[in-house]
Amino acid sequence: MRGAVLILGATSAIARGTAVALARRGHPLYLGGRDEAELARIAADLIIRYQIKVHWGTVDAGNYAAHGLFLEQAVETMGGLEGVVLAFGYLGDTVAARTEFEEVKKIMAINLIGAVSLLNECANYLENKRSGFIIGLSSVAGDRGRQSNYYYGAAKGGLSIFLQGLRNRLFVSRVQVLTVKLGFVDTGMTFGLPRLFWVALPYTVGERIIIALEQRQDRVYVPWFWRYIMFIICAIPEFLFKRLKL
Ligand SMILES: NC(=O)c1ccc[n+]([C@@H]2O[C@H](COP(=O)([O-])OP(=O)(O)OC[C@H]3O[C@@H](n4cnc5c(N)ncnc54)[C@H](OP(=O)(O)O)[C@@H]3O)[C@@H](O)[C@H]2O)c1
Repeated sequence: MRGAVLILGATSAIARGTAVALARRGHPLYLGGRDEAELARIAADLIIRYQIKVHWGTVDAGNYAAHGLFLEQAVETMGGLEGVVLAFGYLGDTVAARTEFEEVKKIMAINLIGAVSLLNECANYLENKRSGFIIGLSSVAGDRGRQSNYYYGAAKGGLSIFLQGLRNRLFVSRVQVLTVKLGFVDTGMTFGLPRLFWVALPYTVGERIIIALEQRQDRVYVPWFWRYIMFIICAIPEFLFKRLKL
């Protein structure tokens, strides 16, 4: 019998792909998100297709005070959790963020502070249980600051470092922490953006994420070739990099 998995930001396209990969393996799911009607629709679809137990509950990344109670409810409803997938995110508007601090706060509140707040709760729960996993969806944008998306990149870079520290802390408790560094994926987040290339599909990405979990990897680039793209991007000397329009 597979353990239950909590998906945070379950209405995201990549979360749906990951939910299908988990459901195909027989994991019961608890879907967390803001849109209750959409969560109910996703749950109904997963139950029909995969005959698994699926429940849902509402959670807003920015409502930090409610995160502890949300996790308690998920644990109680599912009779315990084996793992957590952190999928919510907000790309934001980089140009607006230069002059509107509310936009900066939103990017940081969702991608970094909200993520850390919820993962703190999940980490303490899994550490006590001395087993399980955490999957954090980060981004290649966090590997090097670029003028086109450095607010989002700063938040995702912070998330990647946080996940790395968490992995180091939870290793002795046998809790696996997988950092997923995503390249371009065809979702609402990237729809209509200019200069996208080699865009991956959310269901392929979801399957790849769960394969990386099963292989007990610590960190994975999805699609795989982003590992080499980012190796090259990170190797460009700063005096040259600052002159590029990236
Ligand atoms: N797509 C890409 O190319 C790409 C690349 C790199 C990294 N990523 C990361 O991968 C993850 C999934 O991305 P995606 O492209 O699948 O996203 P998406 O389809 O655009 O969905 C974004 C998700 O974030 C949720 N969300 C936004 N603000 C929230 C808040 N305050 N509280 C709770 N949930 C909130 C949305 O919920 P609602 O439905 O309620 O709005 C939605 O479920 C994100 O962390 C993203 O940063 C994506």
